[in-house]
Amino acid sequence: DNYAVIMAGGVGSRFWPVSKTSYPKQFHDMLGAGKSLLQQTFLRLSKIVPSTQILILTNSEYVDLVNEQLPKINKDQVIAEPAMRNTAPCILLSALKIYKENPKARMIVAPSDHWIEDEEAFTKDVNQAFEACSSEDLLMTLGVKPTFPNTGYGYIRFKNEESAHVKMVETFTEKPDYPTAKSFLKSGNYLWNAGIFIWKSSYIIDQYQAYLPEMFTIFEKSLFKLNTKAEISFLEEHYPSFENISIDYGILEKATNVGVIEASFDWSDLGTWGSLHNQLPKDEHENVSINAQSIFIETSNTILRTSKDKVAVIKGLDNYIIVEDEDSLVILPKQDEQEIKTIRNLVMDKF
Ligand code: GDD
Ligand code: MG
Repeated sequence: DNYAVIMAGGVGSRFWPVSKTSYPKQFHDMLGAGKSLLQQTFLRLSKIVPSTQILILTNSEYVDLVNEQLPKINKDQVIAEPAMRNTAPCILLSALKIYKENPKARMIVAPSDHWIEDEEAFTKDVNQAFEACSSEDLLMTLGVKPTFPNTGYGYIRFKNEESAHVKMVETFTEKPDYPTAKSFLKSGNYLWNAGIFIWKSSYIIDQYQAYLPEMFTIFEKSLFKLNTKAEISFLEEHYPSFENISIDYGILEKATNVGVIEASFDWSDLGTWGSLHNQLPKDEHENVSINAQSIFIETSNTILRTSKDKVAVIKGLDNYIIVEDEDSLVILPKQDEQEIKTIRNLVMDKF
C-alpha cells in the first residue's frame, strides 16, 4: 500500500547558470556520481516501495527528459503538469491519483535534488514514518539537526518529549528571515525540514480541503471521475489557474497534526552552490574545482565550475562561487548564494 512521489518539476534557479529552465538541476549529475539527481532519487525510493508505484511529477516540458533518464518505468508513472505552480498543486494531484488507485494507500513525497548517503538509515526512518502515520492521522516529516541559520529551509519546532521517537510538531516556519533563523538555532528545539513527507493519501487530501479549499474544490470535482484523456484536458484547462504555493506554506505551516522523526542519515539539500561545495572533495584550502584544471593562489573555501575543462587561475579569494557556463559567468560571495535567483531573473529580463 505504499507509494512514492518524486517532485521533479522545479527549475533549480539557485544553481543558475548550470541549472536552466530547459535542463534543470535534477537532470544533472551534480555530484559526479555517474547518475543524475533524479536517477539517484528513484533508486533510493525503489528500495522502499515497488518501483511501479513511484510516480514522477514534473512539468510537461520535462516529460521526455524523465522518460529518457528512467527508461524502465511505465509511461503513466510520469505525470505532466501543464504549468509551474510549485509543490502544493503537484502533491494534491499525486495524492488524488494514488487515492483513486488505492484509498488506503500511504505515500512518501520526496524532492528530486537531495544528497543522502546512508540509504539504509534513510529506509529505516521512512519505514518508521510510514508506521507512525498508518495508526494515526499524522503528517510525517523528517527533521535534520540545523547547523547554521539557513534561510532557505523550513524550521520545525518540536515538543520536547525526550524519549518519544516520533515527536509532535508545535510550529512549522517556512524560510524564516535571518534573525528569526538565528533565534531558532539558539533556542534548540528546532529541526530543519528535510522536505520529505510521509502520510496517508486520504489524510493529505483532507488537509487540502481544510487549508487550501479552493484548490481542493477544483480538483476534487473532476479527477475521480475522469478517464486518462479527460484528465489531461482537465489539467490543461485548470492547472494554470491553481494558486502558486508550496506545500510548506500552504499546508504544513497551518496543519495541527504534524509529526517529525529526526533523521538518522546525513542529508543535504543540494539547493545552492555552497551546499554542493560542502559535499564535494576539497583541496587543503577547502577549494573545489569542477571540470577545470585550476590553480588556486591564496584562495580558500571557493567553488569553481566551468562548462568544459579549462585552466583557471584564481588569486586572493575567500568564500566565493565562480560558475561559468557557455554563455554566462557568475562570480559571487558565497554568503550571497540565495541571491542567485534574483540575479538570474535580472539577467533574463535584461538580455
Ligand atoms: N513537480 C513539481 N512541480 N515539482 C516541483 C515544483 C513544481 O511546480 N516546484 C518545485 N518542485 C520540486 C523541486 O524540483 C524540488 O525537488 C522540490 O520540489 C522542492 O522544491 P524546492 O524549490 O527545491 O523547495 P525548497 O528547497 O525551496 O524548500 C523545500 O525543501 C527544503 C529542504 O530541501 C521546503 O520543503 C523546505 O521547508 C525544506 O527545508
Ligand atoms: Mg530544494
